[in-house]
Amino acid sequence: MQITRKVTDDIVWVGCNDRRLSRFENLFPIPRGVSYNSYLILDEKTVLMDTVDGSVTQQFLENIAYALGGRSLDYLIVQHMEPDHCANIEELLYRYPKLTIVGSAKALQMIGQFYDMDIEGKTMAVKEGDVLNTGSHTLRFAMAPMVHWPEVMVTYDEKDKVLFSADAFGTFGALNGKLFSDEMDFDGEWMADARRYYSNIVGKYGMQVQGLLKKAAALDIQVICPLHGPVWRENLEHFVDKYDKWSRYEPEDKAVVIIYGSIYGNTEAAADAVACRLTEAGIKDVKMYDVSDVHVSELISEIFRCSHIVLACSTYNGGIYPPMENLLADMKALSVQKRTVALVENGTWAAASGRLITKELEEMKEMQILDKKLSLKSVLKQGQEEELEAFVSQIVEAM
Ligand code: FEO
Repeated sequence: MQITRKVTDDIVWVGCNDRRLSRFENLFPIPRGVSYNSYLILDEKTVLMDTVDGSVTQQFLENIAYALGGRSLDYLIVQHMEPDHCANIEELLYRYPKLTIVGSAKALQMIGQFYDMDIEGKTMAVKEGDVLNTGSHTLRFAMAPMVHWPEVMVTYDEKDKVLFSADAFGTFGALNGKLFSDEMDFDGEWMADARRYYSNIVGKYGMQVQGLLKKAAALDIQVICPLHGPVWRENLEHFVDKYDKWSRYEPEDKAVVIIYGSIYGNTEAAADAVACRLTEAGIKDVKMYDVSDVHVSELISEIFRCSHIVLACSTYNGGIYPPMENLLADMKALSVQKRTVALVENGTWAAASGRLITKELEEMKEMQILDKKLSLKSVLKQGQEEELEAFVSQIVEAM
């Protein structure tokens, strides 16, 4: 049975949902699954926008065959060569032997890297500004390198004013019958996963996302069709604004995220005390996370959202508590910047974590590290109230 949805009169969503994969890229937990989107344009020529992951091939082929209604497939546009989108090229060539594969020169080269298939004479390399006329539709290509791989391009359909945006504007989460963002409570149920997807998958490439947003601003876009998650046909600017903020590394909310790494609960207790004082001082949005327990992708997502960060960390074997070290490495890798950070350190032998974390933060751009560290020797003691007050006050003042 086909599972398809109409996007416009001529465009059909023929993608698939995967609710059985536990980790996207074998890294990121996806308890709500993920969708691999693919779109079929039915014009004088038929055009498929990308394929899907190998795990859902059977459903995908059924969707295409149904949507084609006995017609052949003329073009496959490969916007992105990550295997979650390109696993079915060879199968499509078997089924539709007259198929022409359209992509950037780099994408066409990557097909050969991934797959031993003969595509000689079956490809069309396109570059910035090239167009493909399919009858009544004109598809214009724009290169979007590093959003999220170097070969990526996006495609603008001039007739229906649709931007096929590749990985940009994607989110984790399977589409449970609802294809359009206006059919769901996007802010309530999806935004956290959209932020986690952005910050972890594309977060490193803010400059390139800014480049793509500039190109998009010059177009009249009525619909955004990403490769994952819902399609946008209403209130586009809401999501585009988020992308603009995330890619400029500007925090979304005046908020404090407290992330603690605690071996026996004593550093956690200090983090708790900080959270209480911040709340008493009137800071409404204060969140606490255990670095050992919460997946690093969730922490990165919260760091992208919040303006202020408290890192509370035990010293471990003279170094940084390993899960916190892992978080810091990820922050660096994903170009986290423009945040204000306060540090709580703990050490029974000698508290070194504050100094070592400072060194890591100094390697990130425009990170303001607040002067007053809260330093514990094993536990936060009754006598340290003044220190705690001063520590919290500096965060409140910085907000
Ligand atoms: Fe959804 Fe970069 O692949």
